[in-house]
Formats: sequence, structure tokens, C-alpha cells
Amino acid sequence: MSQSSSVLVTGGAGYIVIELLNDNQQVVIVDNLVNASYEAIRRIEQITGKKVTFYKVDILDKKALLQVFRQHPDISSVIHFAGLKAVGESTQIPLDYYYNNITGTISLLQAMKEVGVKDIVFSSSATVYGDPPIIPIPETCPIGSTNPYGRTKQFVESVIRDLCTANKDWNAALLRYFNPAGAHPSGLLGENPLGIPNNLMPYLSQVAIGKREFLSVYGSDYPTKDGTAIRDYINVVDLSRGHLAALKKLADKPGCVEYNLGTGHGSTVLEMVHAFSKAVGRDLPYQLVDRRPGDVTNLTANPSKANKELNWKAQVDLEETCASLWNWQSKNPNGLEDCPGDAPPESVINYL
Ligand code: WQD
Repeated sequence: MSQSSSVLVTGGAGYIVIELLNDNQQVVIVDNLVNASYEAIRRIEQITGKKVTFYKVDILDKKALLQVFRQHPDISSVIHFAGLKAVGESTQIPLDYYYNNITGTISLLQAMKEVGVKDIVFSSSATVYGDPPIIPIPETCPIGSTNPYGRTKQFVESVIRDLCTANKDWNAALLRYFNPAGAHPSGLLGENPLGIPNNLMPYLSQVAIGKREFLSVYGSDYPTKDGTAIRDYINVVDLSRGHLAALKKLADKPGCVEYNLGTGHGSTVLEMVHAFSKAVGRDLPYQLVDRRPGDVTNLTANPSKANKELNWKAQVDLEETCASLWNWQSKNPNGLEDCPGDAPPESVINYL
């Protein structure tokens, strides 16, 4: 990835673009804006003081993707985020998940193949491990998703791995995220879930601003220190830096490699409630209820392979992660909903 090259980011109108721009990378974003908004693009520019090139494109539209690649022949790699990502929702509309996540990725890979772009960083997930027998989880742990969302990640990993096996000049980093948490330290960018948040931290932060009455803690009978489930909550800026490190790793022509992006430290749900309550400065209301179907006891990473091979390690602690989330949420009580979302920042929007 030379300095004159560009990186195509799919579905990534967020933190990774900030890290890439701060690293003086040229960035082209394609996003269908189902889970993002023009305001996010505007804020990325505000944070970095740099321009991005943005196309409102769905990765399922291979013709449009080819147009973007051909308008930017200096694109030499892709960071692929685009896809649907709610575990619970995936059990209700599995066909949408298989179509968007798998067919969409195949459309992207076909376009890459046609224009000769052969380096990809893929946003996978710890969900591919299902209910793992080994904690902390190494990359060698058997794979076994337990929901459609996780299976789309598992299948896409296989597609990319087989592509790299058949084409030795392709290189891919499959990044298995644990639980992203926190927000950009500027308070300008954070998770902006539409509707009722599926995930713990966005829901908890909406309790803190009074948008939700209380948090339902799903399950208090797990075999853990306080009976609630354990996850590895990794700061979103650390996660973004992991992507940048993986992108640079591809220059070593590693073929297809997979990495856990986690802290290596597990926290229970109640520990997260207490940590975030501390950031907010008052106790947040919660109720212990039944387990959520499909949840597992513990998903904690063994991140040593990424630490060593990517020279990357999560740096931001839980206290700072909770403080960044509260800073974002208290400054943006309705996420980006209050912003003039439909007026695209003319300087960055390109129409095909
Ligand atoms: C965390 C813990 C819940 C909500 C999923 C995907 C993963 C990633 C993050 C994309 C669990 C508990 C939650 C609530 C609760 N997605 N919880 N009350 O399910 O671990 O991971 O989202 O990157 O790939 O699999 O995340 O935040 O939904 O749940 O008690 O209102 O919080 O039971 O123990 P999860 P989560």
C-alpha cells in the first residue's frame, strides 16, 4: 500500500476512516447509508480536517462498484465492513442477512477480481466461535456459529479463504471483533443505532439519558462471578487501529490470515453496568430477567496473535471507554437524528 494508493472502505462511514485519514491514507467510501448518514461523513471531515470521497452505493450493485474502482484506479486495497449486523434481527430475517452479507461480499470480490485489486481486510466477528470450549479464545478454536448473522461471517471467511487459496496473489486479513464499545474521544462520532438498540452499551447509554426506563440484564444464572455473561469489550478506536495494522500487514503478502481483535479481558454485564454508572456519576436502573436465546456464557479473546503479528494491542481501558461513550451520548442524545441528514456535504458526495 504505497502513499499514492487509496483504500476503498465499504460500509465504513465511521472510526476507521478517521484512523486512515490520520495516517495520511487516501480514502474512498462506499456506503448505502442503511446504517449510517451523511452527517457521519460531515463529522469525519470535522474531526480530521480532511476530505473523503464518498459514493452512495450498495455493494450488491456490482456495476456501480466497478464504476467506483474505474474512477479511482489508485485503489489498491479494500476494508470491507458493509453488511447487516444484529444477531437477534438475523434470526427474524435470515434471508436478508444471507443476501446482503454473503451475496454482497461476492459482488464486491468479483468487482475486485475484475479490476485487479487483491488485498482485503474483512470485518468478521467473534460470533463465528459460537459457544467456544476454550477461554480465552485463540484463532485455532473450532468455528461454530449459532445464529444466521454469525453464519454469514463464517461463510464469508470461507469464501475469502478459498479465493486466496486459488489465487496466490490475493491477501486477506479476517478480523474477528469481540464487542466494540465506546465512542470517538471528540464526542462527535459514536454508535447511532436506529430504533431499540440490540447491544448492551448503546442500550445502557440510552438508559443514562432517560430514553429507556431501565436495562434488562439478560440472565443472572450463568456460571460466572456474578451470574451475568462475560464479553470482551474493545474500544472502537483500538478496533480501528487494528484494521490499519492489518491493512499494513497485507503488504507482507501473508495470504489469508485471521486475527482476534479483543483486549483479552472479560467483563460481566453487571461489571459493565457499574463501570458505566461510574462514568455517568449515578447508579443506572436495571432488572435481572431471563437469558436471551442464543447468548453464550463467555466470549473473551486471546489476542496474542494480533499483538505479535500486527504489532497491535488494545490500549484504551474500560474507564476511558465508558467515559467516551457517555461524552458522545450526552452531547448527542438522539445520535445523529437531529442533524440535517439529507443535505449531503457537496464537497465529498460523488454521483455515478
Ligand atoms: C453483550 C452482553 C447480552 C443487551 C453481538 C454480536 C457481535 C457484535 C456485538 C458486531 C450479552 C447482554 C445485551 C441488553 C443485556 N456485533 N445484554 N441486555 O451479543 O455479545 O455480540 O454484538 O460487531 O458480533 O454477536 O453483544 O451487546 O448484544 O450483548 O443483558 O439489553 O450483554 O446478553 O451477555 P453480543 P450484545
